[in-house]
Amino acid sequence: MIGKGHPFFPHLETMLEAARLARGIHLYYLEKGFTEGTKSGPTDLVTQADREAEEAIKTLLLERFPEAGFLGEEGGSEGNAALRFIVDPLDGTVNYAHGFPFYGVSLALEAEGVIQAGVVMDTARGETFYALRGEGAYLDGRPIRVTGRGELLGSLLATGFPYDVAQDPENLTYFARALRRGLLVRRPGAAALDLAYVAAGRLEGFWEVKLNPWDVAAGWLLVEEAGGRVTDLTGKPYTLGNRYIVATNGRIHEALLEALLTEVE
Ligand code: IPD
Ligand code: CA
Ligand code: CA
Repeated sequence: MIGKGHPFFPHLETMLEAARLARGIHLYYLEKGFTEGTKSGPTDLVTQADREAEEAIKTLLLERFPEAGFLGEEGGSEGNAALRFIVDPLDGTVNYAHGFPFYGVSLALEAEGVIQAGVVMDTARGETFYALRGEGAYLDGRPIRVTGRGELLGSLLATGFPYDVAQDPENLTYFARALRRGLLVRRPGAAALDLAYVAAGRLEGFWEVKLNPWDVAAGWLLVEEAGGRVTDLTGKPYTLGNRYIVATNGRIHEALLEALLTEVE
């Protein structure tokens, strides 16, 4: 189990509490019905659940840790940049709005540029993935590990696309290459959960282009703490804000990079 002596254990505990609050808000609006708006385009949705979950999470986290800053998808960035929470209050909004049960909430704590704690909760199923740096990754109290599969062909992979994929179609090239090589690829629709699934050994790998820090901060730590590898598209260690992210069980990593980057005859 995660050590209570870890300097960021209190933060993790509060992040878990905040995730439960967010779940309550997601489920409440699912039951009650919600108003819906759009952001960057007609398919980039935002609901009352996104906004209220972010408000509730932010209020709780900053009440307990007033010295921390906050970066949230819906409200932007404020306060301390050296110690900050990075939050996606509802990852998979399009799924949520359609009642397709694959969405959740993602919370990370970054200290001096290093992610120290991460929580990804599937708020439809009620599964909670979490990690503390150096202490491993867990799903509902049980340690999780990436898979040991070493063959790319037959591995289960996931990806996703930005809302403006028509204007920025780069990932369509990688997606087509993967499919044309006969690889098994899913597009589940919630990047934070995709990463959690790599950590939990339900997927061998995941890649995406143009994600934001709130989509990946927690899942990145989960994958690394579960024994996996996270890089950009060239194999360099991932850094927050990079346009490219590739996360795998480690064993298929090089083969996946090569498959994405090499044209198919
Ligand atoms: C989106 C999801 C999706 C990914 C998109 C993200 P949102 O986040 O993570 O899987 O493909 O790029 O923007 O808008 O549902 O929080
Ligand atoms: Ca998101
Ligand atoms: Ca979101």
